[in-house]
Amino acid sequence: MSREVIEPLKEPIAADRQGAKRHYGVHPYFTRRPYNVVREYILHYSREKDRVLDPFGGSGVTAIEAFLENRTGVQNDINPLANFIAKGVVGLASGNRSEYKAAMNELKERCEKRLAALQGADEKGLAKLGLGVKLPENIKLPSNADVEFYHDLFSKQQLLSLAILRDGIDDLKGGPAKAGMLLAWSATLAKLNRTFLSAEGRAESRGGSSIFSIYRYKIAKKPIELPPWETFEERAMNIVDAKTELDKTIQHKKMTGGWHGEFEVHAKDVGELEKELRGKIDYIFTDPPYGGHISYLDLSTLWNVWLGHSPSMKARERELIVGGELDHTEALYTTRLGDSVHACVNMLKKGRWLSIVFQHWNIRYFKAILTRAAEAGAELRAAISQVGDPIWSMHKKKGNQSVLAGELILTFVRTGKPQYLQDSRELDVVNTVGEILEAAPRVVYGEQLFNQLVIEAWRKSAIGSLDISKDDFTNVIKHHGWHYDEDRHYWVRNRDRDHHGNLTPMLWEA
Ligand SMILES: C[S@@+](CC[C@H](N)C(=O)[O-])C[C@H]1O[C@@H](n2cnc3c(N)ncnc32)[C@H](O)[C@@H]1O
Repeated sequence: MSREVIEPLKEPIAADRQGAKRHYGVHPYFTRRPYNVVREYILHYSREKDRVLDPFGGSGVTAIEAFLENRTGVQNDINPLANFIAKGVVGLASGNRSEYKAAMNELKERCEKRLAALQGADEKGLAKLGLGVKLPENIKLPSNADVEFYHDLFSKQQLLSLAILRDGIDDLKGGPAKAGMLLAWSATLAKLNRTFLSAEGRAESRGGSSIFSIYRYKIAKKPIELPPWETFEERAMNIVDAKTELDKTIQHKKMTGGWHGEFEVHAKDVGELEKELRGKIDYIFTDPPYGGHISYLDLSTLWNVWLGHSPSMKARERELIVGGELDHTEALYTTRLGDSVHACVNMLKKGRWLSIVFQHWNIRYFKAILTRAAEAGAELRAAISQVGDPIWSMHKKKGNQSVLAGELILTFVRTGKPQYLQDSRELDVVNTVGEILEAAPRVVYGEQLFNQLVIEAWRKSAIGSLDISKDDFTNVIKHHGWHYDEDRHYWVRNRDRDHHGNLTPMLWEA
């Protein structure tokens, strides 16, 4: 059967963000995609032994899930930290659980007492305990950091504790267990530094670095000194749990039809990658950076410096973001976003599928994706809004209807027939939103409406004329007789609400 006739997935998939130990709890990364959604897409749009690529692979969710589903998972990212995590997780499929436990015990023997002695030691004591430990290079941090130099991100205790642990790991016998311990150490780095903020109302150790919440190096007002050995040990246990899960999954495959998952890693800008993988890929699932929120390379400095693999200047220049230390412009980002999508289509074999996850108020970004995909010979077959999960509602609580949370999954098939669309028409926004609302169910999410509006504009060759602010968008919905429910974060028709503002029962429910 030709793969072009696959019936596209048309419904959102409820996201499970914490259900897989191989992703949740191993190592933090930015905007990690829910593994179950990615896996459903891989299973639907590709077959066993296919090559499945994520060119903006991040922590490797796509390539890892492809690997576990008997495909060749192809990970690519210009950020060394991203590839370190992805490779590290797949590496946990090697070696025995007992070797990992033994490595943990060896480290405990070597480090636990020294680390405990650091706590409460005075300046002189610290100097003595730190004799001979290797410290990382003290480089200058990005200009929006609260402190100027790398070492200032740590208290003296934290810096020495991490260095002692790192030395201990370096001295372990080489092999998968050592690599697993290094992954646990790198995850510990996210907690033993002065950007770590405790989550309110929870144990001190629960919380996260400001790097992942406000996307910059903000020093906590009341820095917390977590106990170093226990913090590392918890991370190492998570690694062992992730390994156990991977082993079980692979064992199950071996017993039910065979195991032939493979994994490869590339560290290139997407444009460069195209030269190597043109026409060689069976499915792409990817989540490119969304404009200017997150400067991945700047924010990964905390890890890249100490892991000893800082990105090249070329990688920094090619990073697909707005802003950052190199101050990339929005125009450059938009052009490169489109070029990357073009490159993705070119990497596919004919008749194969491409899913791109995206969300933004800026319609020019969507235009770049849709236009360049069409020009490269890919046809849009599905646009699904993923809304309603806990992370989505957390974002909604921060800003209600003006926040676009969740994401849109755009799925294309490579037909090989380039289309150059005119895009010269004017869109009647009020009427188009009215038509969408007319056909909508009793409640709709703002993201679903916005995404549908963008796709409608695209289909009517009028996306270039669509320029709508957040306020205009909500006013148009209100104009059509809909109300925003602040608690449930959805829109509901005025006529479907009772005098308390609740949804009235449907006649057949009453
Ligand atoms: C939104 S994140 C992907 C997160 C991923 N979906 C996950 O589940 O972890 C985007 C990634 O694109 C990478 N990136 C940015 N510019 C790039 C480029 N020009 N080529 C390749 N990767 C790039 C960033 O380093 C970042 O890891």
